[in-house]
Amino acid sequence: MPIRQFQAQRMRAPRDFQAISNSPICVEIGAGKGKHALLFSASHPQQQLIAIERTREKFLAMQKQHQIEGQSNLTPVHADALPWVVHALFPQQVQQFFILYPNPEPHNPAQRWLNMPFFEFLLSRLQPGGQITLASNIPEYIQEAQQQLIDVWQLPFVKEKIAASSARTHFEVKYLERGELCQQLIITKPADYTTRFDDFAPLQGQNAVAE
Ligand SMILES: C[S@@+](CC[C@H](N)C(=O)[O-])C[C@H]1O[C@@H](n2cnc3c(N)ncnc32)[C@H](O)[C@@H]1O
Repeated sequence: MPIRQFQAQRMRAPRDFQAISNSPICVEIGAGKGKHALLFSASHPQQQLIAIERTREKFLAMQKQHQIEGQSNLTPVHADALPWVVHALFPQQVQQFFILYPNPEPHNPAQRWLNMPFFEFLLSRLQPGGQITLASNIPEYIQEAQQQLIDVWQLPFVKEKIAASSARTHFEVKYLERGELCQQLIITKPADYTTRFDDFAPLQGQNAVAE
């Protein structure tokens, strides 16, 4: 694989890290103010969703709305997704990841999700047949991700145009109101797919203090 190996064991534990048990879950990365997380957890009561957001004000907005709505199958988490995923998630635990309208990182292509070595670690946490939904309003972002799926990750996907009536996230609403083309890739992990992290157990709060 022509991408360097992610240094998972070096990831420090997120502040106030809380471990989770090894049962099937869905995970949203960069959940913003939580519109999708709240909608998804309300409409899928049998599924557990963890919604991670790094920006404090957005996380607090999600948490506040969650306290009003009270979905018992939703857990908002205030953390950077990279260390949180490495510390919390078990191999093949995740049914679905949602990455909806990620920051486009115009000046830092290496920070886009499918360009990062971390993406291999993310794939190791996905169960066989599990899916990643990646949505964007930037055609070049989708095009680049699609090419990475073919060239680097060798994963099957479908590309969909998002209906003008869709309103899953705050950014989706804004972009569709402006008449922008919004698209998503639905990526599936094949049953026989392997990564270099398939035996990597979650760090569960190790590396919490400076070395
Ligand atoms: C453009 S916003 C989209 C928010 C939401 N998904 C929506 O569509 O309304 C991207 C979000 O991802 C969050 N984010 C970016 N990198 C992250 C990371 N490594 N861990 C957690 N959140 C992250 C940002 O704080 C920001 O709220």
